[in-house]
Amino acid sequence: MVGMADEFDVIGFGAINLDKIYMVDKIPGKDEEGFVLSVEFHPGGSAANTIVGLSRLGLKASYIGKVGSDSDGDFLLKDFINEGVDTKTIIRAEGRSGTAMIFVDRDGNRAILVDPGVNDTIRYEEIDVDYVSRFRLMHLTSFICKNGEDSFISQKKLVNELDIQVSFDPGMIYVERGMGDLKDILKNTTVFLPNRREIELLTGMDYITSAHELVTMGVDVVVIKLGEEGCYIFDGKKEYTVPAYSVEAVDSTGAGDAFNAGFLYGYLKGKSLEECGKLGNLVAAMNIKKVGARAGLPKEDELKEFGEV
Ligand SMILES: Nc1ncnc2c1ncn2[C@@H]1O[C@H](COP(=O)(O)OP(=O)(O)OP(=O)(O)O)[C@@H](O)[C@H]1O
Ligand SMILES: [Mg+2]
Repeated sequence: MVGMADEFDVIGFGAINLDKIYMVDKIPGKDEEGFVLSVEFHPGGSAANTIVGLSRLGLKASYIGKVGSDSDGDFLLKDFINEGVDTKTIIRAEGRSGTAMIFVDRDGNRAILVDPGVNDTIRYEEIDVDYVSRFRLMHLTSFICKNGEDSFISQKKLVNELDIQVSFDPGMIYVERGMGDLKDILKNTTVFLPNRREIELLTGMDYITSAHELVTMGVDVVVIKLGEEGCYIFDGKKEYTVPAYSVEAVDSTGAGDAFNAGFLYGYLKGKSLEECGKLGNLVAAMNIKKVGARAGLPKEDELKEFGEV
């Protein structure tokens, strides 16, 4: 494999979900019946959103994940292909694809049923490790682990066995597992991307003290998302607080995933950490101006129009 390293830019490793949004006349209670008015299908999954963002920004992006043998699996795979994401390491398995059934009534009330499907069942032996080693960076997000621990164990093993840069957005699901479960990943993490609430829950300390603690544990760069306040970055030497863009927030779904795409785009292009923070804030701001987790994710030329790149 010598000489083959660093051929491709970024590979995600996380859940792949199909969000099925049902507009309904009412959210039925026990023994009640409701009616579906309309349905929309939106591909999702936190790492998948970030990888699609990076692909739109012109990077060579790929994904480690699993979809089922059902028509939802066809839909999800086609979507990656349409977005220019390489699907070589997406596993197709017997069973159901991961879905979230989201019921929304006329008043905007929501009820959600999540089916992890085959997401939690990715065994290390199923991953083409040589292929993954050809990427510059691997981006990890959480699996809910309701159908077993296989995918989480594979993430830990891959991070420890490969000499590859790692970015990691734990989300609340992994943070709730606690530091004991995450330290094997954290000690090999290049860029850690939690939000403020998550890092404070993980360490039990305020976010600035937490950032220093995580650098001591082996993280190279800690990047904390601060909502409308932007982000905070610490790399063991310098710290930066980068203010958010002032935008009319229409839908913040996927803001964190969009931020990750902007930040990692800058990082892989060799920008300074402060510029990476600005790019994260910018891509997140563009995304929250539109409804949906991916609708506002920009192409590289749209980003350049902002003159920040
Ligand atoms: N009201 C806002 N105005 C401008 N930018 C915002 C606003 N809210 C969020 N952002 C941008 O989005 C980024 C991510 O948002 P947030 O801090 O809420 O992350 P998160 O909680 O991980 O999001 P998610 O729930 O999508 O995972 C922020 O760092 C900021 O750049
Ligand atoms: Mg988040």
